Amino acid sequence: MSSSPPLIELRNVSKVFVNRSLRQRSVVYALREVSLTIARGEVLALVGESGSGKSTTAQLLARLTHPSGGEIWFDGRAINRQAGARELRQYRRRVQMIFQDPFSSLNAVHTVGYHVGRPLAIHRLVPPGRALAAQVETLLETVGLHPGREFVSKFPHQLSGGQRQRVGIARALAPNPDVLIADEPTSMLDVSLRLDVMNLLLDLRTTRKVSMLYITHDLSGANYMADRIAVMYRGTIMEEAPADVLMKDPVHPYTRLLLDASTADFGNGPSVAGPLGALDPSSPGCPFYPRCPSRMPVCSETRPVSAWIADEAEHRVSCHRYHDAESPKTGRDAQPKV
Ligand SMILES: Nc1ncnc2c1ncn2[C@@H]1O[C@H](COP(=O)(O)OP(=O)(O)O)[C@@H](O)[C@H]1O
Ligand SMILES: [Mg+2]
Repeated sequence: MSSSPPLIELRNVSKVFVNRSLRQRSVVYALREVSLTIARGEVLALVGESGSGKSTTAQLLARLTHPSGGEIWFDGRAINRQAGARELRQYRRRVQMIFQDPFSSLNAVHTVGYHVGRPLAIHRLVPPGRALAAQVETLLETVGLHPGREFVSKFPHQLSGGQRQRVGIARALAPNPDVLIADEPTSMLDVSLRLDVMNLLLDLRTTRKVSMLYITHDLSGANYMADRIAVMYRGTIMEEAPADVLMKDPVHPYTRLLLDASTADFGNGPSVAGPLGALDPSSPGCPFYPRCPSRMPVCSETRPVSAWIADEAEHRVSCHRYHDAESPKTGRDAQPKV
């Protein structure tokens, strides 16, 4: 929760994937009642290890998939599942995605100029011809590809990984979005290039005043990038706070574990463990219970609610150590909020 009105808001959003094959049906609870906000011009980092539901959150925000429960609000309006083509196009202009893999996110048969110019043409932002070509060159230079004119006719295979990711960023910037969703944008790059891309995104945040959901498995990278950090584990937000508060005074045992695993060599922090297996939906307790060093009997029996920490603005945690679901003792307003 931020002091300014949110541009994006997830309200108790859940996502269940049901996979049916001939022989069996499997159900994955990818997100469970996730609530998040991003204010105008704000960067929120979403941190968690592989399989925790980060990309699902990104895809829901990009409207590539729909929530199974809860609501997503954008700029004061609930996103309607039955949106018309025009509304969807407008939304996609305003909320743009930067993908994790710069190698597969560009089409090998198209030039850099095509990739960056296409959103301008689709959204009819610039008339075709010389104006569009000039705008493409400007965008390429904005993301550090100088001189832009020399990159326009190149194909993806002629670029380095870092240059490709810059093209991906230029493409996302092209329709002048309000929000960038960056899903682990540096994780497939050489360590030496990661900081450059992070700094580019921070520059854009300042010059373009975009909001950003910055997804990473690395807490120190999240701290470098974001105003606030939300820590996700198995589809649940475990803790959320302003970045400096979370780094200095983490409350949840999982956040502490992540912090211990995060190295000074940021941008290159390890994930805590391998990919998470699917969560047993019948398990009533805290999703972190099996790995928690501070677990109590209640943790296996009841799911903790997310509640505000007393006297700390914008810091919430989902942990029985700090809150009792039945009688919240420490909540800022003594009411658990999700
Ligand atoms: N299309 C899908 N069908 C079935 N399960 C999925 C699908 N997409 C993601 N999942 C599952 O949802 C969980 C969260 O995945 P994801 O959002 O990709 O996590 P992260 O990005 O944090 O690694 C994982 O258990 C993953 O296997
Ligand atoms: Mg992912």
